[in-house]
Amino acid sequence: MAVVSDTTGSTSEAGEDRARCAGTHGPSTFDDRFYFRQLLAGRDFAVGDPVATQMVNFSYLIGDRDTAECVVVDPAYGVRGLLGVAEADGMRLVGALVTHYHPDHCGGTMMGMRIEGAAELLEIAQVPIHVQSAEAEWVLKVTDLAVDDLAVHDPGDVVQVGTVPIELVHTPGHTPGSQCFYVNNCLVSGDTLFLDGCGRTDLPGGDPEALYRSLTETLSRVPDDAILFPGHQYSVESSDLMGDTRARNMVFKPRSAEQWLRMFGPG
Ligand SMILES: [Fe+2]
Repeated sequence: MAVVSDTTGSTSEAGEDRARCAGTHGPSTFDDRFYFRQLLAGRDFAVGDPVATQMVNFSYLIGDRDTAECVVVDPAYGVRGLLGVAEADGMRLVGALVTHYHPDHCGGTMMGMRIEGAAELLEIAQVPIHVQSAEAEWVLKVTDLAVDDLAVHDPGDVVQVGTVPIELVHTPGHTPGSQCFYVNNCLVSGDTLFLDGCGRTDLPGGDPEALYRSLTETLSRVPDDAILFPGHQYSVESSDLMGDTRARNMVFKPRSAEQWLRMFGPG
């Protein structure tokens, strides 16, 4: 079932998104204080950027409406546009959370492609860039960020935004330090898990066995009624319940690691 059918970007009323979520899942998940925006690159920001349009990345704004503080998840492509959405909602950016090092999530250069991201964000807003310790060296390799720009975390650390705690869930496999963010019974999953499928493991640092364990062990702690918000719009819907995803997504079908590796592992 679809949870958030659409977000309309910087021109929309912030309350519209909240109302859609609350209408489906009740105020316990999306109360008046919880600020959450799902923003599609190429549509809600970075409009007209052909790479953003083709890559269909999601960025997120998460925060506390009462303190008017928020963080951005995976700033890439048009960082001014992302900041503009937060500002239009009356929110102040206090940090950036990076799911993993690929430039379509944090900016930088890879395979000759240059994408704006966290480094450009710091030219406008001086905020910490939160990464998993296992990802730090990879982030430094592809971006223009310096060591001091990073807030390096261990698995399970919590980033507090006002009264909103965001748990950093280390889910290696797509990359060594991939992380998901668990907040208010929402899982922002980056490229670890999509509504259909999961992140590839054939890029530098990928590890199919680690991804299998992340999906079937680490993320098994996420309740069925949590809402999954992925890093790309690869499905018609832009979010879904974890329980429905586990029931439908092919990556949860294999009954053993060996079977999983045969279906989703290298060659
Ligand atoms: Fe990725």
